[in-house]
Amino acid sequence: MSVSRREFMGIASAAALAGVVGSACSDETNQTTADAAAPPTGDDPLGVRADFPVATESLYLNTPYIGPTPQPAVDKTIEFLAAKSRDPVLLGTMLEEEEAVREKFSRLIRAQLGEIGLVSSTSEGENIVVNSLDLKAGDNVVIDDLHYMTSLVMYSQLAETLGIETRIVRNVDGVTSPEAFAEMVDENTKLISVAWISNRNGYRQDLKALADLAHAHGAYLYADAVQGVGMIDLDVGPTGVDFLTTGSYKWLLGGFGVAPFYVRESVMDVVKPDRLGWRMVDERLPDNKYTIYSDARKFGYATPAFAAIYQLSGSLEYLLSVGTDRIEQHTVALAHRLHSGLTEQGFEVFTPAGNQSAIVSFNHGADRAVLENQLADANVRLSFRENDAQIRVGPAMFNNEQDIDAFLDITKGWREAAS
Ligand SMILES: Cc1ncc(COP(=O)(O)O)c(C=O)c1O
Repeated sequence: MSVSRREFMGIASAAALAGVVGSACSDETNQTTADAAAPPTGDDPLGVRADFPVATESLYLNTPYIGPTPQPAVDKTIEFLAAKSRDPVLLGTMLEEEEAVREKFSRLIRAQLGEIGLVSSTSEGENIVVNSLDLKAGDNVVIDDLHYMTSLVMYSQLAETLGIETRIVRNVDGVTSPEAFAEMVDENTKLISVAWISNRNGYRQDLKALADLAHAHGAYLYADAVQGVGMIDLDVGPTGVDFLTTGSYKWLLGGFGVAPFYVRESVMDVVKPDRLGWRMVDERLPDNKYTIYSDARKFGYATPAFAAIYQLSGSLEYLLSVGTDRIEQHTVALAHRLHSGLTEQGFEVFTPAGNQSAIVSFNHGADRAVLENQLADANVRLSFRENDAQIRVGPAMFNNEQDIDAFLDITKGWREAAS
């Protein structure tokens, strides 16, 4: 089947529409500024809007759910898919693209190339880490209630099967502070695991404080960074985080089925691949013997999702050219504008004031079905969360102050209707 650009856009917007009801700093930079982008203007400070059709076709505030892919990365992916129908790309060339993704991601978070592996999802990275830790009865893992469901499920299962203890830090007004973690951590703690930026309310964890806390007790820190990398500028080394995974379909603006997985070089030997295969081979020796990569390439084992790799390669190129320092500055400022506006209108905002991320969640105080109709009429994309009691929005690099003000006009109407 051939899909024209117009049809492709139709498919893309239908998929985005599904999201309407989805229930679901460092000073240094090694990135260049926007050579991929158009010159900045007042309503497009990063000069990127032309590369995101979604920015003009809707009021898209749903990147915490699914991030739109910029046009150059879409073009790169389509080129790969088109080649598959004619003169397929050779395996060696596809593996080179995989290397390019590892290299670009290592630049994005300022890691060493050998510290970056590729797995298939955010959840897979944490599974690999946890399976390596030889957890047993008496050990505990400390997480918080702003973490993603995978971690809550994983540690409650391991509590049943291995007899470990799962300690959950409860948020107070949307905050789970390092001090609250410190009260839960002891000499039996093997791992602290957090969502760096919470999917629930965007709360941004202090990775350095948590890594110091974990290390002081002989434990490790794992960070689920799918809501952070691509939105926030990260220099991973100084944070001290031991392991971190980032699915690519949200703030990395890529596709599905590939997730960069960071393992700090000094703990590389702690984490063992949990499945084995040809892609972990470094060198073939005589007599069916092999050497295995000693760096994070050891987590590869079979043919990966190459289309998603081409897509991610394109979107990483785009992120690097715009610069995550500029993206963070722009998106967090928009989130603060939204937070102040909602607070002034009298909404109860779950995200703490002054939080340094682009995600804002608040209690809408109305009936979801009614709001949903209004949002659909106004072409707004966002997520209902917390049993439909809350709305979560996350301005991305292509959003602007006009978008935030347009949304605040809508929420103002809700307050007026309620009074
Ligand atoms: C914080 C967080 N972690 C993990 C996931 C799921 O990632 P994956 O399906 O790649 O494991 C999500 C998805 O919404 C998320 O928000």
